[in-house]
Amino acid sequence: MGHVFITRAVPGRAVESLTAAGHSVQLWPGDLPPSPEALAAALAAADAAFTTVVDFVSPAMLAASRHLKIVANMAVGYDNIDPAAAAELGVWVTNTPGVLAETTADMAWALLMAAARNVVASDRDTRAGGWKTWSPTGFLGVDVFGATLGIVGLGEIGEAVARRATGFKMRILYHSRTRKPALEADLGLEYAAFPDLLAGSDFISLHTPLTPETRGLMGAAEFAAMKPSAILVNTSRGGVVDQDALIEALRSRAIAGAALDVTTPEPLPLDSPLYTFPNVVITPHIASASLATRSRMAEMAAENIIAVLGGGAPLHPVNRPTNPRHT
Ligand code: DGY
Repeated sequence: MGHVFITRAVPGRAVESLTAAGHSVQLWPGDLPPSPEALAAALAAADAAFTTVVDFVSPAMLAASRHLKIVANMAVGYDNIDPAAAAELGVWVTNTPGVLAETTADMAWALLMAAARNVVASDRDTRAGGWKTWSPTGFLGVDVFGATLGIVGLGEIGEAVARRATGFKMRILYHSRTRKPALEADLGLEYAAFPDLLAGSDFISLHTPLTPETRGLMGAAEFAAMKPSAILVNTSRGGVVDQDALIEALRSRAIAGAALDVTTPEPLPLDSPLYTFPNVVITPHIASASLATRSRMAEMAAENIIAVLGGGAPLHPVNRPTNPRHT
């Protein structure tokens, strides 16, 4: 039976399932993640690691953790781990696909609507006593119904966002590595070259993983190509956006606003200029944060660990070690 290190308290029955399978569980205490040193020390003593998106597991940590057989990330993204390096060292890396697309799409939509209709700015103003009368000119936003939405990355989450957009009778452009003719026909999507999507969209929602190719995908040139009335929504990874370029685009009014669930770094330091723009909505990486979805994500991570510590292959691998370490 194995020793499982979990980097934070998680919802649902994950811990219960691990202990029921006979494993000992070490739960990192408190709300903050372990420091890199504490993480390295814990991994060195573990058979399995249960991590979150803010636990950066380096190849050096894996090399030093001789008994570690799996890093089960409680996320669909896994840019906090190097799966190829882990595979070379015989360590499985797993993620949680298929369970958070709808929840994340709901949040992308919430952010889009909040930014379009000044939900956060007007709430803030109301609490501060700013609601003096019904104002014909107060908090004028932009219409979502009938507008053009540009979706960058048409994976599970991008598709779920597109499905919601059909209810708003939007024109939906998308740009993705692969074209999806069946979805084009089903949802009325239009494939667009990236420059056309940038120039033609009223809202742009990002749904790409963070890879060397997508890092800084939205930079100064891309913001300059957008409509000055357009709003950027990011629920993917902060690194997909060149944040300095975004700040400059907001300052120079090259775009009208942004709604960000992810930033660089996370948490976003309180002195970030992003906080000074009333037309920017910022949430703390909570797009998958419904109780049901986070519970299911945690349970999937536990299932992957139970499979590997039982001597088998995980259910949701993102790498394939040729010589997996044995229990
Ligand atoms: C993911 O799953 O990659 C999210 O960013 C965390 O829910």
